[in-house]
Amino acid sequence: MAPAIQAENLVKTFGDVRALDGVSLDVPEGTVLGLLGPNGAGKTTTVRVLTTLLQPDSGSAQVAGVDVLKHPNKVRSLIGLSGQFAAVDEYLTGRENLQMVGELYQMSSRDAKARALELLEWFNLADAADRTAKTYSGGMRRRLDLAAALVVRPPVMFMDEPTTGLDPRNRLALWEVIESLVEQGTTLLLTTQYLEEADRLAHDIAVVDHGKVIARGTADELKAQIGGERIEVVVHRPDLVAEALAALTPYAKGDPAVEKNTRRITVPISGGAKVLADVIRELDARSIEIDDIGLRRPTLDDVFLSLTGHATAAEDENGEDGSAERKGRRAKGKDA
Ligand SMILES: Nc1ncnc2c1ncn2[C@@H]1O[C@H](COP(=O)(O)OP(=O)(O)O)[C@@H](O)[C@H]1O
Ligand SMILES: [Mg+2]
Repeated sequence: MAPAIQAENLVKTFGDVRALDGVSLDVPEGTVLGLLGPNGAGKTTTVRVLTTLLQPDSGSAQVAGVDVLKHPNKVRSLIGLSGQFAAVDEYLTGRENLQMVGELYQMSSRDAKARALELLEWFNLADAADRTAKTYSGGMRRRLDLAAALVVRPPVMFMDEPTTGLDPRNRLALWEVIESLVEQGTTLLLTTQYLEEADRLAHDIAVVDHGKVIARGTADELKAQIGGERIEVVVHRPDLVAEALAALTPYAKGDPAVEKNTRRITVPISGGAKVLADVIRELDARSIEIDDIGLRRPTLDDVFLSLTGHATAAEDENGEDGSAERKGRRAKGKDA
């Protein structure tokens, strides 16, 4: 069976910027592909090409077997798109926005009303249904934009960072909506900066950076590729960091990372708690005092650091959640 979404060697430049530098993808029907990458990687550009909003300089793409460049109108009738920036009419209420989409797609007025109500409830917008969208918070607009993309249940969906800026409750609710869509057979291409999200929703993940797909696999495969679990140690005395690193190096299954200013050493290992106990004994034998030590699974940061040499920075414009769940050392996005 032909993939529901297929792209071959897409190239797109904006002046000097090679936004897409030969992107190839395929998404089998009924599956979810997570396009994972930091700001500026080329995720939105990929989505815009596949949804006919942007012409590539070269390359080709098909959606539901239809050529995106040759038959854009046909493709548009087969897809749903929810954008990173809400395509919502500010002067209509939430309910009117959704009904209007249904009517644009030739639903009967009665069906459009019923669908609007169902989606308002799904997205926790029922209480705000009759307020104009311009009174909505950023997160509410995001939810309304997503709901609008779901009005007509298209067979192929594109979602560009659907949960960036949503609070944890709404993020979970959206994940459930997406899972139920996929259960009903929708094919989905979703972009995200959250490995956790790709982990939960995507059958397959393509990691993009600088306009290229640099890795492809399931979440587990990607994590395994960068060496599985790691030990993280915070050394008490700055002058003992180097010695601690020397003590840890024999256990390393990959390159250790040292953050001098926080005195933190991260070492990929295999062997779990047993190795952790050995390391604690070893540090103790050398009288190296530690502030913290633990075992953890690789994070999105680790995957990126390892694959690209730089960390991700989740963007978050008009979010509901601030950076509450952006744990640890991840830099906060400044553009967008
Ligand atoms: N319309 C545009 N004009 C100029 N540069 C653009 C335009 N759209 C995207 N770019 C550039 O292309 C690169 C990829 O952008 P984008 O696809 O939006 O990345 P992402 O969605 O992964 O953050 C970035 O360097 C961005 O600045
Ligand atoms: Mg983007």
